[in-house]
Amino acid sequence: MDISAADHAAFSGRANRIDHAAANQLHYLGNYLRDISSNLTRMMENAHDWEHLPFVHPSSFAAIAPIETGTWGWRCKAALPNAGGEQLLELLVDEDRHYWATSVVSGSGQGIQIHTQASDNDGGGITVDVRFYLPQPPENEAQAAMILGYLQTQYTTLYDEDEALMRGRQEALDERKALRGSKAEKITDLGPEAALDRTVVHTAQLGNRMIAVRYQGNAWIAHAARCPHALGPLDTVEPDMTGHITCPWHGYRFDLLSGAEEEERCGALALYRCAISPDRRLEVFEA
Ligand code: FES
Ligand SMILES: [Fe+2]
Repeated sequence: MDISAADHAAFSGRANRIDHAAANQLHYLGNYLRDISSNLTRMMENAHDWEHLPFVHPSSFAAIAPIETGTWGWRCKAALPNAGGEQLLELLVDEDRHYWATSVVSGSGQGIQIHTQASDNDGGGITVDVRFYLPQPPENEAQAAMILGYLQTQYTTLYDEDEALMRGRQEALDERKALRGSKAEKITDLGPEAALDRTVVHTAQLGNRMIAVRYQGNAWIAHAARCPHALGPLDTVEPDMTGHITCPWHGYRFDLLSGAEEEERCGALALYRCAISPDRRLEVFEA
């Protein structure tokens, strides 16, 4: 996605802080309330994470490119699916209040702001209150109900998808912590090779890591089961025709021969050596 001078210009002069008074000039349409079984740390991380949008939310976004990012939030250009055109989006974060505001700066829905307050709830999870603001009031109640219904349906899907991502990331972080004290084994034994299903990915522990072992191009190969970028699940994805795997969270693409990410956006995927022992067991070694 190309970023033009006009895209930069569209954002010029905008402050990096949420202007609550400006939102009060808009028309408040209604809200979407949602309980999520995750925590505020994961939720705020998710708000900052512009990169996941097209990969985790493909029915809402087709592509995204950053224009400016910082601790204050981000400004991006997004392509909408089904030839829905492009949008310039801004997300500003008030970290201390667990609050963020998304604005459609140009493109379809221009002028809409969506303000979200996240808070802990009594059930051990969090609740998000997503409030929708329009630049003008709808023409009548029927139109207001139609727009609100559309947004509530879209946000139900978005938060279903985010909840799965946030839970997956928390589980991966917990797993990494639990494995930290493991013995630094240099080899793991997957059992008799003839008994291993070649059509599925096997996961195993090697030292303090989880690895994925798969049969690929007439040989067994092994790589880290979690993505080196942010621990996305690489044991659940299939290699493409060129021997690459693409992480489902941010679309980083790893070469299974070298481990390198194709655009060097993060460190290489750890690869391990597979061998068949004299008694025909599949063993995986630290490279
Ligand atoms: S976790 Fe971000 S690309 Fe894998
Ligand atoms: Fe998301």
